[in-house]
Amino acid sequence: MEFNLNKKIALVTGGSRGIGQGIVEGLAAEGCRVVTCARNGEALKTAVAEMQEKGFDVTGIVTDITEKGAADVLVERTVADFGRVDVLVNNVGGNCRGEFDALSDENWEELLNLNLTSHIRVSRAVVKEMKKQGSGSIIFISSIFGREAGGKGLSIYNTTKSAMISMAKIMAIELAGQGIRVNSVAPGSIRFPGGSWDKRCIEDPEGMAKFTEANLPLGRFGSREEVANMVTFLASEKASLVTGTCINVDGCQSKSLI
Ligand SMILES: NC(=O)c1ccc[n+]([C@@H]2O[C@H](COP(=O)([O-])OP(=O)(O)OC[C@H]3O[C@@H](n4cnc5c(N)ncnc54)[C@H](OP(=O)(O)O)[C@@H]3O)[C@@H](O)[C@H]2O)c1
Repeated sequence: MEFNLNKKIALVTGGSRGIGQGIVEGLAAEGCRVVTCARNGEALKTAVAEMQEKGFDVTGIVTDITEKGAADVLVERTVADFGRVDVLVNNVGGNCRGEFDALSDENWEELLNLNLTSHIRVSRAVVKEMKKQGSGSIIFISSIFGREAGGKGLSIYNTTKSAMISMAKIMAIELAGQGIRVNSVAPGSIRFPGGSWDKRCIEDPEGMAKFTEANLPLGRFGSREEVANMVTFLASEKASLVTGTCINVDGCQSKSLI
């Protein structure tokens, strides 16, 4: 399948490692010119250099997108350098585990800011540009735990990931007439070097073998390339009828019927 993404401008938040890096590489391999960001300047520089060595057109901007004003600057710089934004992938995200009554206002504020508000701000700035262009594809990286209960200790994560899917749906309805598609992707457990699942597998191989047996019908974790493949499809015009939806990339890990 030809994705026809050559020279499209893509902005991917949090591409210095993990799933974000996989998405940057996936889009760049299809010809996109990709701008990405992270807080740690050294790690970003190294990741971008590695990707450039592979021949990918990738630029890194050091920023903390939870800071007020940072989202606007990120989008302004992208448009100043590349003239437009065709694809936005809202990938940055984190977790704060804890029983509901042990979680503080600060815990909620921090994660709401990271998992939701930062994406609202980046998307709002990008939508302005996409409306001028009359085209665009916006993708939110949610989680299967935005679609079903993740279990104890995950009230903040579940809430923010569900809210993201909900917001994306309304954005899709509002922007459908303007050539802008908006979708969410819900990964299951994704393992990559240095990631949280990788660390747990190294620290507790027996426990993780049991987890795999009980929760992962394919008998393995997902890879970031598998998430990137879905994002690349959604970014492209091959997904022209796909908007306002959330797609699991989870190897049947989730139990939800919808
Ligand atoms: N891994 C999984 O199994 C899994 C499953 C389902 C959903 N997800 C979702 O997929 C997304 C990526 O997960 P991941 O596991 O790849 O995460 P990760 O390994 O922690 O990578 C996060 C990336 O975002 C950057 N980042 C974090 N906070 C930032 C901020 N405030 N401003 C700018 N950049 C920031 C990080 O760089 P710096 O730290 O240098 O800023 C890094 O590049 C998240 O939304 C996560 O919830 C992951």
